[in-house]
Amino acid sequence: GVRPTKDRLHRPLRDLRISVMDRCNFRCPYCMPDSIYHEGFSFLTPDERLNFDEIERVARATAELGVTRLRLTGGEPLLRQNLPELVERLVRIPGIEDIALTTNGMLLERQAAALHAAGLHRVTVSLDSLDPAVFARMSGGRGDLRTVLDGIGAACALGFPRGVKVNTVVQRDVNDAGVPELLAHFRHTDVIVRLIEYMDVGNRNGWERSDVVTSREMITRIDALWPLDPVSPTYCGEVATRYRYADGGGEIGFISSVSAPFCGNCSRARLSSDGQLFTCLFATKGTDLRAVLRDAGHAGKDEPLRQTLANIWHRRTDRYSEERQERRSRAEAAHEDKAGKKIEMHYIGG
Ligand code: GTP
Ligand code: 5AD
Ligand code: SF4
Ligand code: SF4
Repeated sequence: GVRPTKDRLHRPLRDLRISVMDRCNFRCPYCMPDSIYHEGFSFLTPDERLNFDEIERVARATAELGVTRLRLTGGEPLLRQNLPELVERLVRIPGIEDIALTTNGMLLERQAAALHAAGLHRVTVSLDSLDPAVFARMSGGRGDLRTVLDGIGAACALGFPRGVKVNTVVQRDVNDAGVPELLAHFRHTDVIVRLIEYMDVGNRNGWERSDVVTSREMITRIDALWPLDPVSPTYCGEVATRYRYADGGGEIGFISSVSAPFCGNCSRARLSSDGQLFTCLFATKGTDLRAVLRDAGHAGKDEPLRQTLANIWHRRTDRYSEERQERRSRAEAAHEDKAGKKIEMHYIGG
């Protein structure tokens, strides 16, 4: 018996997304544009990042408050040394039923076997295009398509117990024309592709609504090529809307955070690599859990941590994507009315 911890809008705390590394080996223009994240940019120092003991303590405390699903993210999580050791520690936490990893796939082929052996349940690889030129542009000239595909292949060959997914962020006139090619590549394989509406995360990607291709539009385009049938959700609060190719080609997901926000049952908390806890992807302010973890007065006791987490969640009212939608229907500007800057994607892991 874990007592569910509910926020002000009666949403339970179920998921913890853990960013283990703020750095990334890609420079996707919509996340870490090269013009800002160059040589001189100051990332966190190793000592500023939570160590594995600290991450484990936070994960245990959230599990006691009702978290059942963990996701490791970055920046690029595979840049973190000894990640399989962390996975091994997290899978053993009572109450944790699911551990996933979101990666850009560049370092996956090398690390897949160790992650699998450590008990990782599933892997999601971000892949925006199969066109080498578009892929190169969308990774800021850092990624190699063949290497990423080999990483996906390695993960598939190992047979992660809950499978392998591909995340594709769709941007109009950037990669939308290549989506059919990408889908064709993964049809009739075990890989589930999810098409993601491009979001206004962070402050640096110059997002405009006209860049978004809605899920509705993508579904219409895809259905004309390969008829689709809807599939019912696997769990309450699932982010993706699922479809199946009518011809047996497998499953496909649509993540519609812009056109159809899903804040109503958002059960996700996010931990940055330096131990700030955020209760929304679009938050402007977090809570410094590292200070609680490193407070000598607490000397490793976990009750203050649990109490801090419970308090944060009890106070939570975030519903940014729904508010964005409401502003739109009132024809107000989508930006500018939030005090302070939003957190950056590479810092919080999506
Ligand atoms: P599954 O557990 O496999 O369904 O994964 P997921 O969709 O929860 O997570 P993933 O890391 O694969 O993220 C897919 C996309 O959904 C990314 O673009 C995320 O930024 C976005 N996303 C995930 N959670 C949220 C959320 O709470 N709010 C918003 N607005 N977007 C989210
Ligand atoms: N909009 C939507 N998804 C994004 N991601 C990164 N930036 C954005 C954005 N602006 C995706 C990454 C990764 C996931 C965690 O979030 O491609 O797959
Ligand atoms: Fe690209 Fe993900 Fe790295 Fe951001 S964190 S630059 S989206 S690979
Ligand atoms: Fe949750 Fe915030 Fe995303 Fe809404 S916008 S689903 S509250 S993370």
